[in-house]
Formats: sequence, C-alpha cells, structure tokens
Amino acid sequence: MSTEKQTAIEIRREAQIDIRPLTTLEEFERCVVLQLEVWGYSDGDLIPRRVFLVAQRIGGQVLGAFDGDTVVGFAMALPGYRKGHSYLHSHMLAVLADYRNAGLGRRLKLAQREDALVRGFDLMEWTFDPLEIKNAHLNIARLGAISRRYKEDFYGPSSSPLQGGLPTDRLYAEWWLKSPRVTNILSGKTEPIQVLERITVPHTISQWKQDPHTRSLAQQLQATNRMAFESAFERGLSVIGYERDDAGDGTFLLGSWSDEEQGAWS
Ligand SMILES: CC(C)(COP(=O)(O)OP(=O)(O)OC[C@H]1O[C@@H](n2cnc3c(N)ncnc32)[C@H](O)[C@@H]1OP(=O)(O)O)[C@@H](O)C(=O)NCCC(=O)NCCS
Repeated sequence: MSTEKQTAIEIRREAQIDIRPLTTLEEFERCVVLQLEVWGYSDGDLIPRRVFLVAQRIGGQVLGAFDGDTVVGFAMALPGYRKGHSYLHSHMLAVLADYRNAGLGRRLKLAQREDALVRGFDLMEWTFDPLEIKNAHLNIARLGAISRRYKEDFYGPSSSPLQGGLPTDRLYAEWWLKSPRVTNILSGKTEPIQVLERITVPHTISQWKQDPHTRSLAQQLQATNRMAFESAFERGLSVIGYERDDAGDGTFLLGSWSDEEQGAWS
C-alpha cells in the first residue's frame, strides 16, 4: 500500500466519526449508494431508499456513521415477530473500505444495541455468510452473538461479487442483548466455554471464491461445512465461540447453549 494511501487511512481512523439515526431521503439515498460501493449489487438486489424510510418509521433502525457530513457506514434493521415476541432483524451493516478495521462496524452494532435496549428489545438477529472469517469473528467473538440455525441458499442467487457465485448460505446470529454472555464479552471479560466440536474455514477462502480456477474448492468447503453445521445443530449444539489462528484461518467453536441461562425465548 502506498504511504499516501496509508496516511489517508490513518487520518480517517483518527477522525471523529459520529453515529446517529438517518432521517432524510437524501441520507437514505446515500445508503443505496453505499450498498453499490460495498456489495456491488445489481438493481434487483438493491434495497431502495423508500424501504430505509419505512424501516425507520415502523420501529426498525437506520443508523449512520458520519465523517463530517458524509455517511461512511450504516446499519439497518427491520422489526420482527416470532412466538409472541418482538425482536429486531438487522438486515445490513456496511462500512466503506477506507474506514474498515478501526472499530466502526462494532460501534454501529453497539449503537443498534443501545437503541434496542432503550425500546425494550431482548433480541437482535441477523444472518451472515459463515465463509466470511472477519464477519464471523466480529459477530461471535467480539459481539457475543450465538448461532444455531443454518439456511442453505438463504437469498437465492446474489449479484454481489463478494458472494463469488456461491449459494447464499447463511448462519443466523442471535444477539441476546441483555444476556450475561453478551454483557461479559462487551465489557472485555473472557466467557468460559466448553468446546465439543469445531468447524474451520481456511483464510484462502476469499481467494478461492474470487478465482474461477479455484471456485470449486470454495464450493466443496461450503458443502462440507454446511453438512457439519446442520448435523451439529440437529444434535442440539450451537456456535458459542470463534477463534482465529496466526495463519488467519477461522474456527467456529460449538458447544451447549441453554436458553435458561438468560431466561430467554427462542
Ligand atoms: C463487516 C464490516 C461492516 C465490518 O466493519 P469494520 O468497521 O471493518 O469492523 P470493525 O473494525 O469493528 O471490526 C473488524 C474486526 O475484524 C477483524 N478483521 C479484519 N480483517 C480480518 C480478517 N481477514 N480475518 C479475520 N478478522 C479480521 C479486525 O481485526 C476487527 O477485529 P478486532 O476488533 O478484534 O481487532 C465491513 O468489513 C464491511 O462493510 N464489509 C462488507 C459488507 C459486509 O460483509 N457486511 C456484513 C454482513 S453480516
């Protein structure tokens, strides 16, 4: 990376980034532009500005990260309902490439949590691609989400180059906002877990997905891990931890997770 570019990133890291709700059509339009820049979606997959407006008006969330007047990241959630309970389903989290790895993604999630708690929610859910090591680390290790549901090809085909043409398999993240696990992890305490099984994703996965010559390796790994997750979840195991090793490989740690620990519904 050039020194000039590196300096620009350092400056942005140190810049004061404010997080606040987005409210105007111009701001929602900016989220559409950010979707294009972050995911590279075609028109059919883009969430239009009116849906952001509706999310904001019906009890969801649209939070933006501002560098000055410019929105450089956002989180969007819709209200959900299951088994007599309301919860939030966070549909999108995006940070512009130049602003990544400076804690902004985590700050957006924490702002979502704060707003959700004020409004009385116990649970926020979202889905994520289990082949994305960075996202899994953020969701499980840094935020304290757990996972015990796997959906094969959740969205159907995706126009995003990030998906590399693979089926859109997703894990559900369940973020039990008031649970001891989440409060401990957010306050930096180690959460003791008993690991019964592991599912690994090698760091080469992103290259495999992008290169047509190696894409079949990514497809094989996705299929193998899909079976491992489905089998583990059927046997009552949950993802309760995540580890990265020095090579950058990521490993899901599976064990028992009891709802009684938090007095929660699921
Ligand atoms: C996911 C995303 C929002 C995260 O935003 P961000 O501002 O970079 O996130 P943060 O800086 O708060 O956290 C990133 C974490 O991942 C880690 N990380 C970075 N690169 C990594 C990699 N290749 N492998 C594993 N972990 C990695 C960082 O070290 C950091 O962890 P730490 O706080 O323990 O050091 C951003 O990368 C993005 O917009 N990605 C594209 C869209 C997307 O995938 N959205 C999420 C859908 S669920």
